[in-house]
Formats: sequence, C-alpha cells, structure tokens
Amino acid sequence: MYDIIAKKRDGLPLSGDEIRFVINGYTNDSIPDYQMSAFLMAGYLRGFTDEETVTMTMAMAESGDMLDLSGIKGITVDKHSTGGVGDKTTLIVCPVVASLGVPVAKMSGRGLGHTGGTIDKLESIPGFSASLSPEAFIRQVNDLHFALAGQTAVLAPADRKIYALRDVTATVDSMTLIASSIMSKKLASGAAGIVLDVKTGDGAFMQKEEDSAALAEEMVSIGNLAGRKTVAVITDMNQPLGRMVGNSFEIREVIECLKGNGPADLMEVCQALAEQMLLTGGKADSKEAAAVMIADSINSGKALETFRRFVTAQGGDPNVTDHPEIMGSYSIEKPVAAETSGFVSELSAREIGRAEMILGGGRLTKNDTIDRTVGIRLIRKYGEPVSAGETVAVVCGNDSLRTEEAASIVKASYSYRSSCPPNRPMIKKIL
Ligand code: URA
Repeated sequence: MYDIIAKKRDGLPLSGDEIRFVINGYTNDSIPDYQMSAFLMAGYLRGFTDEETVTMTMAMAESGDMLDLSGIKGITVDKHSTGGVGDKTTLIVCPVVASLGVPVAKMSGRGLGHTGGTIDKLESIPGFSASLSPEAFIRQVNDLHFALAGQTAVLAPADRKIYALRDVTATVDSMTLIASSIMSKKLASGAAGIVLDVKTGDGAFMQKEEDSAALAEEMVSIGNLAGRKTVAVITDMNQPLGRMVGNSFEIREVIECLKGNGPADLMEVCQALAEQMLLTGGKADSKEAAAVMIADSINSGKALETFRRFVTAQGGDPNVTDHPEIMGSYSIEKPVAAETSGFVSELSAREIGRAEMILGGGRLTKNDTIDRTVGIRLIRKYGEPVSAGETVAVVCGNDSLRTEEAASIVKASYSYRSSCPPNRPMIKKIL
C-alpha cells in the first residue's frame, strides 16, 4: 500500500491490479484508515485516469453482492443525486413513479460533507430502517414497486467505508471518487435503468457547470458500458432546493410535496427526474405524457399512499404524513432578518449546508451521531422581494451557542440587490 500511495502521490498511473488491491484491502480491513486517507488525498490532488475510474467503480461494485433483479417484472429503475442541500427529490420522485408502475430499486447513502443524505432523513421517521436483506429488497420492489436500502455489508461495502472516510478527510469533491461511489452502488443494486441528478453550483461538489457536465458524462458512460440504460439531468444547486433544510424538516416538506403543496423549484427538478424515470422504465413515451401521469399521481393521492406503504414496509410509522410532530422537535428558534430592502440576489447553498452541520444535523467525524430535529426554514429565496428587518429564514436548534453560530452563517449566506435578479433555470441539461 505504501508503494501505491507513493505512485499516486507522484502522479503515476495505477494498474487494474493495484486499484483492486486498494479497494479489496480497505474493504476487508487489511488496509488501515490512515493509509486509505493518504491514498484518497493523493488521488484527490493528482486525479485519476478514465481507466482507473472504471476499474475502481467495478471493484467497489463487486466488493459485495451484485443483486440480480431479473426476477422483477418490468424495467427496474434507480435514481441518484450527486449531493446537494435541501435535496429531498428521491422521496418525492420515487413514490410518484412507483405509483405509476415503475419498479424502483433504490440504494441511498448518508449525509456527506455539507450535503444531507436520504437515509439520515428517513431515519427521522420513528422505526424506519434502510437495512434490508437482498431478498427483502427484491420482495418489496415486487410488492410495492419501491424499496430503499442503505449499503450493508452485502451491497457495495467498499463504498460505505470509503464514503465515511471521504466525508471527514476533505476528499469528497473529486470527479472519480464521486463517480465511482455513485456508480458502484447503482451497479450493485442491479437496476436496469439509472437516472442521475447531477448538481451544479455553489452547493454542489462540482461547482462549475463544465465540471458537472464532465462528471455526468463519466457516469453515463460507466453505466452504459455496464449495460445499464443511464441518463443524467444537470440541475441547479446554487441555493438550497425547496424551503426546508434538515433531516426531519425535509421529511415534512416531502409530505407537503406529495400532497400537492410543493415549492416550485423543488417540484420542477422532481418533474424532470420523474419524467426521465418514466421514460427509462418504459411507462411513458414522451415527456408530455409523463408530465400528465405525474400530475395525476400527486393529485389523486396515489403518490402519498405509495410513500405511506413504503414507510410502513420498512418499519416506519406511516402516521408521519398526518402527524409530522412524531419526528420530535427542536427547542430554540432564531429568526434571521433581512438587512436591507430589495430582492434576494444570492442564498448560498453551501453555507446553509454548513449552518445545518453546525446545528448538529450533519457529521463532523465518522462516528458522530446527528440531531434529526434541527433545521432551517427558508422564508425568502433567490429573486424574492424583501423589506429591511423582515424575517428571511428561521434557524431551529437545540443548543443556544450552535443556534447563534448557525444563525450568523445563515444571515451571511444572503445577499440582496435593489432590482430583481435574472431568472435561473433549474434544469441545465439532459444527457
Ligand atoms: N453521492 C454519493 O453516493 N457519493 C458521492 O461521492 C457523492 C454523492
């Protein structure tokens, strides 16, 4: 391992055997965290070749079982986001398309860096568990058209370990490490179709649109090489998605979206992803037809009912949809006021994500436990008018010092100008 770290440090290409040695050794604990951290940092700084990326992805996917979903009727579809702030699209899009007959076999992760993770959010619901055996996962996709599993010792265990280490060693935002992390999970969980939400902007790991496009291309090509129909949608992450940030806060917003009361930016991204999932899953033959089906699923209550059945199947309390207060609450509320009158011209997603971490909603070290009751409500967002002194956000915490600190970060994450800023499209590109 020492020689491989030195080679990567010096910018020399690694052979397939060397990459597999690293991934397998770290997965089976023969390579310690400190050597893997040095390897990740060397790779982060030096970069990886396309060949190294594909080998790493396959080694990570094959580090555990590769699920065979061929027993499931229909074209199974999975979706994944490269990570954002306030990004709860999975929990809206998957029930919608599942209610329309697309079998959704979803493998999710926990929070990473300043971004939240779907499993951390779902675990706000009393009783919910994402630990499903492969048999239970397949059975549930067959019965309900939707199951969501976290990585276990069985599925892509290499990614589970590397992901947790990257989270605390400042090695998240590397194209290869993101692509291999996401695609290894997608390949291992066996879906025939994969829809990727590649975020771009201040709150994304890839901030420049050209880097996000390169990441999207890399993942689409890995997916297609592995025989999976793969599509990527590049979406805006310059400000948090929706108006709620924080684990249980985001579950509340998901429920509102499934009841038809979702905020426009969030619903626009959900619509684009759901359309691609319906097209990939062969349930719609045009975006227009898909849009009609999506509206019907939400308006008829079918999507909400699918969400309730999914929560119940995975041990959670479905009453959460009518009584979100069962997820517990915070004890301190700190409003943040606008400094001036005008329009919001920036609302930094990265800074809001950082404020949420300081509140205790994210992890600073690998073994941190998180507080799922804290969060941030965004009352004003990009382009919206404000008057001086008006509340633009509310920071909700359980510790007064942390809440104060988070509130000052939230305050600084807003900028204002006197005229309305230009409209920013949510959907940048579909590959
Ligand atoms: N999501 C993942 O699963 N992995 C990453 O590296 C980033 C986002």
